[in-house]
Amino acid sequence: MKLNLGCGPRRLEGWVNVDTVAGFNPDRVMDLDQTPWDLPDGVAEEVLLNHVLEHLGASTASFLGVMGELYRVCCDGALIRINVPHPLHEHYRTDPSHVRPVTPQTLSMFSQAECDQAAAVASPMTPWAHILGVDFELASVQYVPDAHTETVLRERGVLRQDDRAEDFAEIFANLIAEIRMELRVRKPATRAEGQPA
Ligand SMILES: C[S@@+](CC[C@H](N)C(=O)[O-])C[C@H]1O[C@@H](n2cnc3c(N)ncnc32)[C@H](O)[C@@H]1O
Repeated sequence: MKLNLGCGPRRLEGWVNVDTVAGFNPDRVMDLDQTPWDLPDGVAEEVLLNHVLEHLGASTASFLGVMGELYRVCCDGALIRINVPHPLHEHYRTDPSHVRPVTPQTLSMFSQAECDQAAAVASPMTPWAHILGVDFELASVQYVPDAHTETVLRERGVLRQDDRAEDFAEIFANLIAEIRMELRVRKPATRAEGQPA
């Protein structure tokens, strides 16, 4: 199964399109903030959240619920594509239904390897992957600059030509418009029946 969560008006053919707004004519009307989701375990091999995750999880409990459900409904190796506005971009700030900044660092907290590393160096990072028993590997990150802001900063010499815009994402508001991230779901192999533990 392929899940287009928060599909809005952009339904994808061959996918299960999910939204809370019935008017978008999704295949399933669901409030993703309400967990558990009415979907079986391990059924999704691909999930798309295109400008949706920043609308979910206004409370810590509901965000953790969403991450837990994403993990539960995915199979091992599933690919989750998450596109969000950069939290320092006006696109994030202007929409009152944007309730949750999401960055690659946020999602890394749901990786077992990242939590293992943090624990090894006594980092104060909350080991969410350990706590929730989930494992999402951050497979790729792409920063999409805001063309107008980048041009202004380069023309005025604030950014040099060899500077990468993404390295200044936390310094200049409106420099990065969008962050595109891919998560790979890691689930332990289930023991075949009759095999010793
Ligand atoms: C910015 S739109 C993006 C729509 C679509 N993914 C796209 O690429 O055009 C956000 C979508 O998330 C949906 N949404 C927001 N909160 C939701 C929730 N709690 N459960 C399900 N869908 C939700 C909205 O109804 C809306 O369709």
